[in-house]
This record gives sequence, C-alpha cells and structure tokens, in this order.
Amino acid sequence: MTDLPAPEIEEAHNWLHAAERVAVLTGAGVSAESGIPTFREAQTGHWARFKPEDLASPDAYQRDPEMVWAWYAGRYRDVLAAQPNPGHLALAELEHRKAGGFLLATQNVDGLHQRAGNRRTVELHGNLTHARCEGCHHLRPLPPPDELSVPPLCPDCGARMRPNVVWFGEYLPTVALARAQAAFASAQVALVIGTSSVVEPAASLGLLTLENGGRLIEVNPDETPLSAWASVRLPASASQVLPALLEGWA
Ligand code: OAD
Repeated sequence: MTDLPAPEIEEAHNWLHAAERVAVLTGAGVSAESGIPTFREAQTGHWARFKPEDLASPDAYQRDPEMVWAWYAGRYRDVLAAQPNPGHLALAELEHRKAGGFLLATQNVDGLHQRAGNRRTVELHGNLTHARCEGCHHLRPLPPPDELSVPPLCPDCGARMRPNVVWFGEYLPTVALARAQAAFASAQVALVIGTSSVVEPAASLGLLTLENGGRLIEVNPDETPLSAWASVRLPASASQVLPALLEGWA
C-alpha cells in the first residue's frame, strides 16, 4: 500500500475487490496528471481571463464561433498530445477485472479513458475529437490538428460543424445518462474521481448508489459537496490512489 491513509485505502480496496458491480464517475481531475488543465482551478495561458461557462455555451458559440472553436482547437491539440496516466490505466485494469459488472461514466471530453483501454464507458459531455454538423447533424471525427481549419464545414452538406461536446444549458445524451444512472443505481460501489461535483446531473450519480444501499468512495485532494456523503474519502490524486486500490488482487 502507498503512504495514503491506510485504513481508508484498505477499506476501499476490500469493498472494490468484493463488489460484483462497480460504477465509476470521472471528472477533469483524473486527466490533470496527463497535463490537461481542469476547469475550476486557475486557467493557464491565454484563456485565464475567461470562465469555462463563457466559452462552453450555445450563447458564446452563437456570439463568436471562431473564438469558441479556437479554444476547442487548442484543447483538441492538448488532448492528442496527452497520454493516459496511471489513474487511467488503473481504471482500465478495474474494468478488466469486473467485466460486465463495470461502467465508467466520464464528464471528460478528452477520450483518454478509451485510449487507456476502457470500453465500457459513457461520455456524458461528449468528446472533443469529433464535430457535429449544424445542418444534417452528422457526427464526424476531426482531422489532425494541423489540418483543422475552424469552424470546420460538413463534408456531406457544407454547413458549419460544432464541437461534439455538451455545453452549459444543453441536455446530456439521453442514452449515455440513462446507462450511467442505471449503473450507479445497481452498483454495490460507486467510485467518484477528480470532479468538483457541482455540475448536474453527473454530480448526483454517486448518490443513486447510496440510496440503494451501496457505498461511495470519493477520490479527490479537495473537499467537494459530495464529500459529506462519501462512505470513504481518499484525499489524494487519482494516479496515486487508483493503482493502490488494485494492489494485491488475486
Ligand atoms: P473541475 O475542474 O470542476 O474539478 C476538478 C476536480 O478534480 C477538483 O475537485 C480538483 O480538486 C480535482 N483534482 C485536481 N487534480 C486531481 C488529481 N490529480 N486527482 C484527483 N482529483 C483531482 O472539473 P469537473 O468536475 O470535471 O462541463 O467539471 C465538471 C464539468 O464542468 C465539466 O465536464 C465541464 C465543466 O464546465 C461542461 O463543459 C458541460
């Protein structure tokens, strides 16, 4: 075990090991150690003067699509340059061990869970490696960053394409949300990692597990509104905690 709070790690480790059904929710904190900035911590560089809500919204996009696309094009480049970290890899290993009893719901749009090997995933807020046509609504993968001109135009109908992400005030993909809610409602253990737990409906998923008699493990160096509900809080980084939770599994 690492130098984490041993009793809590031991407890969380044993719950996870014994559980048949595990539901995981991740936020930007799980990708922080891959070098991808989170949202509500200080924004770095050129975007320091903007709030994410002023960029990731339909109003911002209608007002200035070029600026919104410039922000996403920068994040797209960062994402492709990033690598999954030990936290991502541990979650792929957890899926391998739990198989059908596992679902990972992520608020992240960086695709790093899939690149780490997770397949039983739902992307609650979309994925910024794709764009959706505003005319025919076709979904298309973006070209490599060096070939991306923004805003991209639909190869099918020529209309402008928007980032394939959920913006403030927009609905989440219904099937993804329904799958996540069902998984958390039936899970014996919910593992909530690297999210400030302030954006609904993702923030309440862990409570569904508690309501049905399951346990909630929170992995976050900082306290969040969810912390008071957690069966166990592990106040450390994802890449430190998650591998420790899988240590010694037969
Ligand atoms: P936030 O930036 O709001 O929160 C990131 C959380 O991760 C914070 O609580 C940090 O303390 C924690 N954290 C930082 N480094 C960590 C690490 N190494 N290991 C574990 N935790 C760490 O990001 P989200 O909660 O993901 O929505 O934000 C939720 C949504 O709000 C996003 O999906 C996005 C944003 O606006 C939309 O764009 C619709």
